[in-house]
Amino acid sequence: MSDFINNFWSMYVVALTLLGILGCLLLLIVVARKKVVSAADNTTGHVWDEDLRELNNPMPKWWMGLFVITVVFSLAYLAIYPGLGSYTGKLAWSQTGAYEKEVAKAQADLEPLYARFTSMPAQEMARDTQAMAIGERLFMNNCAQCHGSDARGGKSFPNLTDGDWLHGGTPEKIRETITNGRIGVMPPMAAAVGTADDVRNVAHYVLSLSGSPHDSVRASLGKSKFVACAACHGMDGKGNQAMGAPNLTDDIWLHGYGEAAIMNIVNNGKQNEMPAQKEKLTEAQIAVLASYVWSLSNKSGAAPQ
Ligand code: HEC
Ligand code: HEC
Repeated sequence: MSDFINNFWSMYVVALTLLGILGCLLLLIVVARKKVVSAADNTTGHVWDEDLRELNNPMPKWWMGLFVITVVFSLAYLAIYPGLGSYTGKLAWSQTGAYEKEVAKAQADLEPLYARFTSMPAQEMARDTQAMAIGERLFMNNCAQCHGSDARGGKSFPNLTDGDWLHGGTPEKIRETITNGRIGVMPPMAAAVGTADDVRNVAHYVLSLSGSPHDSVRASLGKSKFVACAACHGMDGKGNQAMGAPNLTDDIWLHGYGEAAIMNIVNNGKQNEMPAQKEKLTEAQIAVLASYVWSLSNKSGAAPQ
């Protein structure tokens, strides 16, 4: 409502709300005063099921009392809490304010718990059962929706347990990934490769790198076209973590496997994003998470689970 240059709409809503409440009260008074002409036996003359008659008794006093209390309550509520147009209420309470207070309190409560971990190296933290239990819970709440509750990922969401890294698997690199996020960009390469047939050939060459089923004639024709890919994936196809370019020789496929999937990615490119977590999680939480993720593919150095 603050979008309006004057507060006409706010006043309009205030008037509607107050009129509505007063209208309820008025209705009660009018109805309570209204006399219904009744027969001598105090019935209204309505009869159902042959002998069921409606008595003409006044509304019970306790019920009227409750009704008046709800009206008084609503007026008091609107004075204290937001509800009347853009008036914020005496307490200036708001949902976002309440949420932020809760988050700040939770983080303050957790500080002593995390204090122990902030100066601990990731490898040591990975042997700490409490740190790993916290890491697992953080992972379930913040990461599992994309990477899976077992961290094994899915199509286009990397498996974090297999020791195969797009951006690097040291605790420091993992921490960097979680803090700032990553955007992996593979540009559309069809024009650089040549004809549709050349694209098919290079796809077979890529398949040959990991010993996957391929057409060897096409693969050998495609080999020379791979120069266009080498800048990122390396001449040997083993990838480049500085660019987030995956290793194409390990038979681990992020975006699907086979001729069609590879041709699709060469023709259309691919942009894949890991969202930055620094606004959502504290530094200490990210440190614990980085250690937890590192431990998933370094079982021998990690706490028994
Ligand atoms: C909205 C989905 C999403 C969420 C939530 C998410 N991730 Fe990711 N994550 C991705 C995608 C997609 C990638 C791959 C980025 C790429 O292709 O370069 C990725 C990549 C990563 C990588 C790098 C893997 C590698 O091989 O280098 C790590 C580590 C990681 N995520 C950890 C986490 C952690 C820890 C969390 C929870 C705090 C998390 N992710 C939450 C989607 C997500
Ligand atoms: C500018 C750098 C760059 C160039 C050039 C490039 N790629 Fe990529 N490629 C990437 C990146 C980055 C990814 C990962 C995208 C992501 O994060 O999901 C990728 C992903 C792929 C994948 C998917 C791998 C998987 O695990 O699913 C294939 C296949 C691939 N590239 C093949 C090629 C081929 C073939 C060429 C040459 C015609 C090529 N790329 C050229 C950067 C590049």
